[in-house]
Amino acid sequence: MVVVSVPCMNGGRGEASYAKNSDIQRTVISKAWPFLEETIKDMFSSSFPGCFNVADLGCSSGPNTFLVISKIIETIHKLYHQVNKKLPEFQVFLNDLPGNDFNSIFESLPDFYKRIKKDKFGPCFIAGMPGSFYERLFQSRSINFIHSSYSVHWLSKVPENLETNKRNIYITKSSPPSVCQAFLEQFQRDFSAFLSLRSEEIVSGGRMFLTFIGRSIADPSSKDCCRLWELLTKALIQLVNEGLVEEADVDSFNLPCYFPCEEEVKSIVREQGSFILDTFESFEVNWDPSDDVNNKSFVFNKDRCGQNVANSIRAVTEPTLASHFGNAVIDPLFARFATLVAEHLAVEKTKHISLVISMTRKQHAQP
Ligand SMILES: C[S@@+](CC[C@H](N)C(=O)[O-])C[C@H]1O[C@@H](n2cnc3c(N)ncnc32)[C@H](O)[C@@H]1O
Repeated sequence: MVVVSVPCMNGGRGEASYAKNSDIQRTVISKAWPFLEETIKDMFSSSFPGCFNVADLGCSSGPNTFLVISKIIETIHKLYHQVNKKLPEFQVFLNDLPGNDFNSIFESLPDFYKRIKKDKFGPCFIAGMPGSFYERLFQSRSINFIHSSYSVHWLSKVPENLETNKRNIYITKSSPPSVCQAFLEQFQRDFSAFLSLRSEEIVSGGRMFLTFIGRSIADPSSKDCCRLWELLTKALIQLVNEGLVEEADVDSFNLPCYFPCEEEVKSIVREQGSFILDTFESFEVNWDPSDDVNNKSFVFNKDRCGQNVANSIRAVTEPTLASHFGNAVIDPLFARFATLVAEHLAVEKTKHISLVISMTRKQHAQP
């Protein structure tokens, strides 16, 4: 049994919820969409099955949960219409950790069903699948397509042997090589296990499409994946100096995340051996997703951007931070973080790097 030490995102629909602060993930889904659409078109270039089983891993709760699923179903329907085939029946599994706000998802199901009925979609059955994606989730060879966005950079647990990573919560320029190695090795173990588990569950020729945060260069302390966490550490140290947080608590805290580079991902896929890597792409997203070239009404305001970034980071890290530092530090921590991010963005617009991979399950060995 894998010990899960990774709490979920902020549930519910309140001001600090993931549902209200997931614009960046929404932007990532739309930027990854052309590659996902290509994968779907390729999947249906020659065969048109009557039933199709899809899983979304790390679905969270909020507007994004049904966004990808709706787009996938809509695209497959168009492809079936083009060749005059009877629409397939869909079984969709929404997976996340057991503590995820599945209640909110299930409450919005009637609206989703109404919408797809109105748009004359074929039969679609949604099921929740609580559990860690670092364990088996589905029956053997039962899933045709697995999607996951902004989830597999979360590790199964905080890496061990990080005692020397004092006054840091992730890798930084000053981290000793042993710290970088501990994070990398945890990712290698987790991602390899993830691929093995999914390889049991996906049918031969089935596809898997993953989008996650990575970095653009081999250096694990690259600013595109580390700067944001350095600012969060700085905010924590300010609280230490003000007597609101114990220094020892900062020393003992590390993020259960890893942001890999292209070669690290490719070599794990190659060595695990069950999947053919069809596509590897990457793109940048601003920390504040409203700061986008396509957003014509956007006017840069450092304080507003700092606050937006702080809200989005709070929505994904609050339960993890609160379980270590206590609830009382969350408001002051994110107030200071918002200011530090604003000051940083006024000087430099560092961006997140998103990695996109599309894979095909190789033929299973005959039993
Ligand atoms: C940033 S959210 C992404 C949610 C959604 N896919 C989106 O794009 O908006 C990451 C999700 O991954 C989930 N997650 C992290 N580790 C997980 C694990 N081991 N198994 C299942 N879900 C996990 C978290 O609970 C969280 O809901």
